[in-house]
Amino acid sequence: MKFALGIVGALMVANFSLATMCPHPVDLVFLLDSSESFRTSGFEEAKTFVQNVVNYFTLGEDDTRVGVVTYSNIDAQVTRIKLNDNYTRVELLTGIRNIPYDRGHTFTGLGLDHVRNYSFLEENGRRSNTLDFLILLTDDEPEDSVSGPAQSVRDMGITVFAVGVGEESDISQATLETIAGDPSRVFRLTDHDFLVDDSHPRIIREAICDATQCPALTAPDNGALSTTATSYQTVVTFTCNTGYVLNGAVTATCTADITWTNPVPTCTPIQCPILTAPANGALSTTVTSYQTVVNFTCNTGYVLNGTTNTTCQADGTWDNPVPTCTPANLCEPHPCDNNATCRLLGSTFECSCDVGLVGDGFNCSVVQCHVLTAPVNGALSPTGRRQYQDVVTFTCNPGYSLVGTASLTCLLNGTWSASPPTCNRKAPIPLCGALTAL
Ligand SMILES: *[C@@H]1O[C@H](CO)[C@@H](O)[C@H](O)[C@H]1NC(C)=O
Ligand SMILES: *[C@@H]1O[C@H](CO)[C@@H](O)[C@H](O)[C@H]1NC(C)=O
Ligand SMILES: *[C@@H]1O[C@H](CO)[C@@H](O)[C@H](O)[C@H]1NC(C)=O
Ligand SMILES: *[C@@H]1O[C@H](CO)[C@@H](O)[C@H](O)[C@H]1NC(C)=O
Ligand SMILES: *[C@@H]1O[C@H](CO)[C@@H](O)[C@H](O)[C@H]1NC(C)=O
Ligand SMILES: *[C@@H]1O[C@H](CO)[C@@H](O)[C@H](O)[C@H]1NC(C)=O
Ligand SMILES: *[C@@H]1O[C@H](CO)[C@@H](O)[C@H](O)[C@H]1NC(C)=O
Ligand SMILES: *[C@@H]1O[C@H](CO)[C@@H](O)[C@H](O)[C@H]1NC(C)=O
Repeated sequence: MKFALGIVGALMVANFSLATMCPHPVDLVFLLDSSESFRTSGFEEAKTFVQNVVNYFTLGEDDTRVGVVTYSNIDAQVTRIKLNDNYTRVELLTGIRNIPYDRGHTFTGLGLDHVRNYSFLEENGRRSNTLDFLILLTDDEPEDSVSGPAQSVRDMGITVFAVGVGEESDISQATLETIAGDPSRVFRLTDHDFLVDDSHPRIIREAICDATQCPALTAPDNGALSTTATSYQTVVTFTCNTGYVLNGAVTATCTADITWTNPVPTCTPIQCPILTAPANGALSTTVTSYQTVVNFTCNTGYVLNGTTNTTCQADGTWDNPVPTCTPANLCEPHPCDNNATCRLLGSTFECSCDVGLVGDGFNCSVVQCHVLTAPVNGALSPTGRRQYQDVVTFTCNPGYSLVGTASLTCLLNGTWSASPPTCNRKAPIPLCGALTAL
């Protein structure tokens, strides 16, 4: 329990210090004008100002490191404190207070050159993973050119702030902007007293601290980010739109070296399972990404059983199953003659005429036998019958007798069941008595 309370206490202290101190480590070098114009008291105030700014940062070898350079005459650029000289607050504040005042001229360009030549070297304490800041403090127009030296310093990746003490006639806005490279990093303190009051150093030190921003992030295509904030320790959460999956890290955090811990992820469409065409059919596309519509078709002679299309849904499933292609029932609608029967033969069909009918299946007509005619000396009944199953009966005139089959039936194969009969004259009754009489 005691242990737990201790942790709570530590967290509260940490929160408190975040609110009142710059929360991230930087490499901070001050370039102090030590020329005649400051005068002894002004230079003491300038050192108080440096202390005021430094106090806003968490100091230490692994936290913010501070260096101080003074400049005045053509031969007087002096590194007073290197970035890796004094790490603790007491050492630094003492070291700053002990910096002597030079007097002399204002060769600001040479001061900037010195910073470039010495202060931001790795051997002199510059770190590669922290932001570098140079804060120039001056109260007089330079006696040499500053634009080239300042540009060179900025080209090293160092963010330059220019603090001008005095009026425009003492140090011009144009000069300060030339040094800082950006008006937003120029500060003017019209009175030396402003170096030591409460508010002015605070505005400047907060501006230095706020300059630690990671690059702006843009939302991934088909996705979004939780915040556009870019300040140190910001945690950005990435999301993808419905139907898209996130490839990469879900969050990125702005670190002390003003880079994000992770790149912006990509959002790629959800993929549904690969589809195979139905047997005896085809599909319109093999694309399987979210919202793809796949159409199905069946080969000729087959009919589609199921739905004709399917769509890849946001959950990675298809909304309809692949249909089947079943052989088309070619006998429907009935393609044959009314009096014929349709029969499937694989992918084709056949029409066969019903019993008693002949034809090609598309035109069936009744089986007909050849026309029968009455025999000589005889007759047939009924007349004109010749269709399948018709029965025709022959008779002979008186005096004639029928030889053959009396009734013929028209058979299925179009022939009569027998040959037609004939009528033969009956033999005369022998007149035996008469002949004897003769
Ligand atoms: C600052 O560092 C220098 C060189 O490392 C050392 O000589 C000096 O004593 C330090 N200053 C303080 C106040 O500790
Ligand atoms: C800076 O270094 C250059 C050579 O790299 C030298 O010419 C110049 O005098 C140096 N300036 C200062 C102020 O140290
Ligand atoms: C799928 O069918 C629809 C009509 O139903 C058509 O507009 C679309 O172009 C087809 N898609 C493909 C990939 O053939
Ligand atoms: C269509 O498919 C369903 C099941 O998938 C099946 O029950 C049905 O008999 C099929 N219909 C035809 C005409 O093949
Ligand atoms: C899918 O097919 C149905 C009919 O089966 C049709 O109404 C719908 O428009 C089709 N969808 C697409 C995207 O082609
Ligand atoms: C053929 O079929 C039609 C109707 O199905 C029927 O009226 C007709 O009598 C039939 N013809 C024969 C010769 O069977
Ligand atoms: C059907 O066959 C009969 C005799 O074979 C013929 O007279 C008739 O013209 C045919 N009808 C058609 C539509 O082919
Ligand atoms: C017709 O059918 C009958 C009885 O089945 C048979 O005896 C006769 O030989 C057949 N005729 C022909 C020409 O096929």
